[in-house]
Amino acid sequence: MTQHREDHPHITDHPHSTDDAGNGLGGTPQPSAASTWDEMYRSRPQIWSGKPNPQLVREAAGLRPGKALDLGCGEGADAIWLAQQGWAVTAVDVSAVALERAATHEKTALDRESVHAGEGAIPSRIRWEQRDLEEWMPEGAFDLVSSQFLHLPSMAWRGPLLAAAAAVKPGGTLLIVGHHPDRLPPWGSHTAPERFYTPSQLVQELKLDSPEWVVEVLTTRDRPATGPDGQEAVIADTVLRATRLA
Ligand SMILES: C[S@@+](CC[C@H](N)C(=O)[O-])C[C@H]1O[C@@H](n2cnc3c(N)ncnc32)[C@H](O)[C@@H]1O
Repeated sequence: MTQHREDHPHITDHPHSTDDAGNGLGGTPQPSAASTWDEMYRSRPQIWSGKPNPQLVREAAGLRPGKALDLGCGEGADAIWLAQQGWAVTAVDVSAVALERAATHEKTALDRESVHAGEGAIPSRIRWEQRDLEEWMPEGAFDLVSSQFLHLPSMAWRGPLLAAAAAVKPGGTLLIVGHHPDRLPPWGSHTAPERFYTPSQLVQELKLDSPEWVVEVLTTRDRPATGPDGQEAVIADTVLRATRLA
């Protein structure tokens, strides 16, 4: 199996320290999340492997499809896989470059599917939305909210992941996967510990130990991974899957 490629080294891991006007503390204007990530995606024709994340496949394969929200969808492999399983997907990312690639990949997959089925063109099953999670809150409620490796150089993870949890409808599933801080990829920008979380930090910060939630999976899983220049390493994923009861 092609391994999922990890964070790209061109991304810095320094949170942008800004004043209210969006300037750095030294008065230097800071690039927006959109321009930072657009630049990263433009640096290579493809950043990620094109395969769905393995923890998503493992944890979501047994769920009954409904409405799904993929936060920080990147080049779209997870959203496309979910749509192929029957989910109606809203896929959100700050980068227009990533979303354009994602929509192109979806079209290629749908064209292939329509040839196999001997049918005409199959319409898109995914809403691709450009949103900045620093400012935007999900609208509506979802049967599945998935956040895969949403490690943002420019902001803390608690805000967007609390918003992710709030967007799960009663009976729905929250799935969060990220790099475990104790076994980070040895390449790229994985040195700022505040960007990463352990399973217990997730439960504590997102208040998932309340009676509203049942936590079904809370673990750390090792997996082999390949870096952007072909480096091999065993890294660890923090995995949380929880169901909202009310
Ligand atoms: C490490 S990548 C993970 C991509 C994808 N989930 C995957 O696993 O392949 C993080 C993604 O979050 C997006 N992102 C970063 N900051 C964001 C923000 N403020 N709002 C929305 N998306 C953001 C980036 O554009 C990028 O696609």
